[in-house]
Amino acid sequence: MATILAIESSCDETSISIIKDGELLSNVVATQIEMHVKYGGVMPEVASRLHCENILFVLNESLEKANVNLEDIDAFAFTRGPGLIGALHVGMQTAKTLAMLYHKPLIPVHHLAGHIYANEYSHPLKFPLLSVVVSGGNTELVYMPSSMEFEIIGETKDDAIGECFDKVARTVGLPYPGGIPIDKLSKEGEHTYNLPTPLHDGSLNFSYSGLKTAVINLVNNEKARGNEINIPNLCKSFQDTAIGMVMDRVNRAVNQYDIKQIVLAGGVSANSYLRQKMHERFDNTNIELVVPPLWCTTDNAAMIARLATHLYDMKVFAPLSISCDPNWRIDKYKIYN
Ligand code: KG4
Repeated sequence: MATILAIESSCDETSISIIKDGELLSNVVATQIEMHVKYGGVMPEVASRLHCENILFVLNESLEKANVNLEDIDAFAFTRGPGLIGALHVGMQTAKTLAMLYHKPLIPVHHLAGHIYANEYSHPLKFPLLSVVVSGGNTELVYMPSSMEFEIIGETKDDAIGECFDKVARTVGLPYPGGIPIDKLSKEGEHTYNLPTPLHDGSLNFSYSGLKTAVINLVNNEKARGNEINIPNLCKSFQDTAIGMVMDRVNRAVNQYDIKQIVLAGGVSANSYLRQKMHERFDNTNIELVVPPLWCTTDNAAMIARLATHLYDMKVFAPLSISCDPNWRIDKYKIYN
């Protein structure tokens, strides 16, 4: 048990949390979303600069809220990847500087593993488990026979599901991040547009670029014909198809793997239709469904802190020479000691 300061800066949220003996003392998040809305997505260079501007304010506020001093911290954790390289560097350099100054260990944390372990704030994890990782940058089915063992059993061959939600939203003039307005408008619409579900190879893999292109073509063709698009109906048709692909792969995976628990993780796990479908499928079965609290679906350092407590106990420490890895795969989690 220890007091750990954790930093998350993989995309457009600068966040620092302090956790003491497993109890979350603070979780300060400075979001940049408003700055990126005008570009219709995250501008990597702008994100890095904003992390630089925000990180010391976030650090001070987090220490103040937790009522601890830097001298009280036993280890400094940071998101090593995956994410935007420039953004990751800001969090990593901050963690390295603090670890060097206070002669304390440095803990590298995998962002998606953090999303999985964030579920521990609401529910203990039980193994073997299947994690459905659905975010802006990744779409993966991760099988975990035991804690800290990760096997990717299915992944997207092209776009991530969240990226697809964002691009479809932009095509029909909805704001970034597109998953939220699509989810909302779908509730007013009906499934009237027929959209393709690519990749019928019987595997656990995903493909979203064909679905995205199909929506773009449909919108362009309707416009060219002078027809108006029914946006709520298109949102509903798209959402059903995109989430349908997740449910299809999840059903295949639970037939192939013996699991006790199924855990949602990542930004798209906030989707109300995905949550509904997962409850319909797994409530009253012998597989326990764990759905993260909504505050855990967006990026924050509390999830990094949660996983860092396990890594601290396992003494997974990194040398000061470590660099971040924007494409770090969850099944390549190395033990640095
Ligand atoms: O996990 P996250 O922050 O992304 C990465 O770390 O990459 O999730 C952001 C993604 C965005 O693509 C956003 O559109 C999507 O999560 N998202 C949603 C919903 N809320 C956020 N997608 C579908 N339905 C939602 N309610």
